Amino acid sequence: MSITKETELIGMKKASEAVACTLKEMRNYAQPGMTTKQLDNYGAKILSEFGARSAPYLAYGFPGWTCISVNNEFCHGIPSDTKILKEGDLVNIDVSAELDGFWSDNGDSFVLGKDINQHQKLIDASKQILQKAIYNIKGGVRISDIGYLIETEAKKHGYKVIKNLTGHGIGRGLHEEPREIANYRDRLNLTRFKKNAVVAIETFISTTSTYAETLNDGWTLVGNKGGFMAQHEHTIIVTEGKPIILTEMNGVWN
Ligand code: CO
Ligand code: CO
Repeated sequence: MSITKETELIGMKKASEAVACTLKEMRNYAQPGMTTKQLDNYGAKILSEFGARSAPYLAYGFPGWTCISVNNEFCHGIPSDTKILKEGDLVNIDVSAELDGFWSDNGDSFVLGKDINQHQKLIDASKQILQKAIYNIKGGVRISDIGYLIETEAKKHGYKVIKNLTGHGIGRGLHEEPREIANYRDRLNLTRFKKNAVVAIETFISTTSTYAETLNDGWTLVGNKGGFMAQHEHTIIVTEGKPIILTEMNGVWN
């Protein structure tokens, strides 16, 4: 969506506060020995207290409130009673929700407890890349140039990007125009970021894979060549200068 009036800005801020706060609280709550369903239930409680509803459930019928993906799962992991979190797991929580007709989205990959499996380097690279990408976005910048920046930075860190996962416009729905904000230079995409547009910018930085494939459960995405992936996501408003980062309070960069 494009922000055209104060009420829209307020609506987006409220929806973003709900998803950012929920993501932060879920990350703090996650413990070894807990199931991903328990973690999702906790997120559901917080979202409900804000009056927010799960975006992936509303938009696509996703079987959970939030997406929780562990280790070799890249994203859209289904919260499960049988999936138990362990020390050193690479965990991704993606929280998106609707509140009073406004939609916001954010995600965070982190290591649970001690980094016994050496995932932190991948995570730090992804966070830095997201920051660099976001602070290079302003009205008039080509979407493909941000994709190029993400891909180039990933390579510098020794990583790859996933080509079939993208950021997206957001606001009055979960996925809006521009539908694909890729992590590589898509030469066919000549579109530019527009001032006042609300977009979800997300990294998909991987160790070995370049494509994500769906498992038989119909939701969970894993890599075509295995390995691990880190994703970090903020919902932002494009301006003529620095973007307004609506989900900044999720604390991903702290
Ligand atoms: Co998301
Ligand atoms: Co998103």
